[in-house]
Amino acid sequence: MSKRYVVQTFGCQMNEHDSERIAGLLESDGYEKTNDQSDADVIVLNTCCIRENADNKLYGALGNMKRLKDKNPDLQIMVGGCLAQKDKEMIQQKAGHVDVVFGTHNVHRAGELLNQARSSGPVTEIWEAADPDEAFASALPAKPELDYKAWLTIQVGCDNSCAFCIVPSVRGEEISRPAEDIVAEAERLAGAGVSEITLLGQNVNSYGRDLALKARHAGNPDVKLRPAFANLLRSVAAVEGIRRLRYTSPHPKDMTTDVFEAMAQTPAVMPHLHFPLQSGSNAILKAMHRGYTAQRYLEKLAEARETIPDLAVTTDIIVGFPGESEEDFQATMAVAAEARFDHAFTFVYSPRPGTEAAQLSDVFCDPAEVKERFARLRTVIERNALAHNLARVGVIDEVMVEGPSKTDSDRLTGRTGQNKLVHFPKPDGPLRAGSYATVKVTEGHTSYLVGELVEITARATHRTRIAVL
Ligand code: SAH
Ligand code: SF4
Ligand code: F3S
Repeated sequence: MSKRYVVQTFGCQMNEHDSERIAGLLESDGYEKTNDQSDADVIVLNTCCIRENADNKLYGALGNMKRLKDKNPDLQIMVGGCLAQKDKEMIQQKAGHVDVVFGTHNVHRAGELLNQARSSGPVTEIWEAADPDEAFASALPAKPELDYKAWLTIQVGCDNSCAFCIVPSVRGEEISRPAEDIVAEAERLAGAGVSEITLLGQNVNSYGRDLALKARHAGNPDVKLRPAFANLLRSVAAVEGIRRLRYTSPHPKDMTTDVFEAMAQTPAVMPHLHFPLQSGSNAILKAMHRGYTAQRYLEKLAEARETIPDLAVTTDIIVGFPGESEEDFQATMAVAAEARFDHAFTFVYSPRPGTEAAQLSDVFCDPAEVKERFARLRTVIERNALAHNLARVGVIDEVMVEGPSKTDSDRLTGRTGQNKLVHFPKPDGPLRAGSYATVKVTEGHTSYLVGELVEITARATHRTRIAVL
């Protein structure tokens, strides 16, 4: 019987996508996937360190794994990802039962490190920077979680220096992937039946800046910095079979009209913009080094809504950044009310080692006050979310079917172009995940819609993998 592996992923889409690559590497070494840790020969934890509770989660999970390893001494435990990049040798110091620690720049080495640990004992290998030839690992076999929609990395790392954020230190400098490689990967995915692609990067609208600068240094002074991202959207959307194109995350300071125009003029680019605000106070935005004011943010948002019909907008907001006063927080509440987001991810500020804001401990906010502000902000966010979703009632939206609803097996769940979740009754015949259907919205709730099926518009074309027993 072949050996089994399980990958547990923490953190963002970058990590989810890296996990697909780790799975692909292990499968090409003959491992088979299992969902049960107690049945696995290899457990991979792909970690995140964006907030402190992400750290705690890993060390908690590792504690539980000690028992599994006591029962099965042949079990190998691997820890990769951003927290591994941050904590390095400390992981094996804290959890001696970990066999392999690898970082964000050497994902492609996972299989080899596993073999090395088996023959010569525990190993930690962290690279301090990406090897540009390996950064995208497009040649790496990947084992996508889903056959009909896919992530596509266009850029790794981040060249910004938001004062709260640990990502630049664990993901390194920004490197863009050549557009030809991205389009070629989109073509390969479309050929396999994928119809929805999400372009991934920490700051997608600065895509190509590094490539253009390199070309200029190489003696090509006419190379333009823009509109690389807008052009990329158009080129990927033009790939035959790509019905839906999304991207995440753009940075408001780098957002330009050409991107909004490309979104508006390219029907395959879905009408959803994730536009991270972080704070509505100009003083806090300045301390965060975000590079825009609240007014500028709102102007760009207004431009996006004017340019792109039926646009849904989501955001990220941090509550309790060091020095945030009640007045600063009121400014965030006012911008959130004015921006009328469809949805927002809200976070309590968490000091991260090595970041500028973590040194501002003399002005850290009172946790009880932050908790109370957080609850007040949620009220505004949820009120707007409900209003947007109620306004969809009566609208006919096309959804991509994602499978049976998690709470009611008589219903299917899908996502609209705006990326809203819709539950609707199952039709009589089969309707595979990855198919498209139009749905008339009948109810709007804070975090989902309910609708009724109007018509099946496209059947999924991907081949279903049949497990070989
Ligand atoms: N590159 C993305 C952000 C990735 S991190 C971007 O710029 O949009 C996702 C979100 O986590 C951020 O937008 C921010 O809201 C939140 N975040 C990052 N660091 C944080 C910290 N130290 N404490 C609380 N939230 C944080
Ligand atoms: Fe972090 Fe800012 Fe870079 Fe986003 S843009 S990853 S928040 S440093
Ligand atoms: Fe976490 Fe790393 Fe993503 S820190 S949010 S997994 S880039």
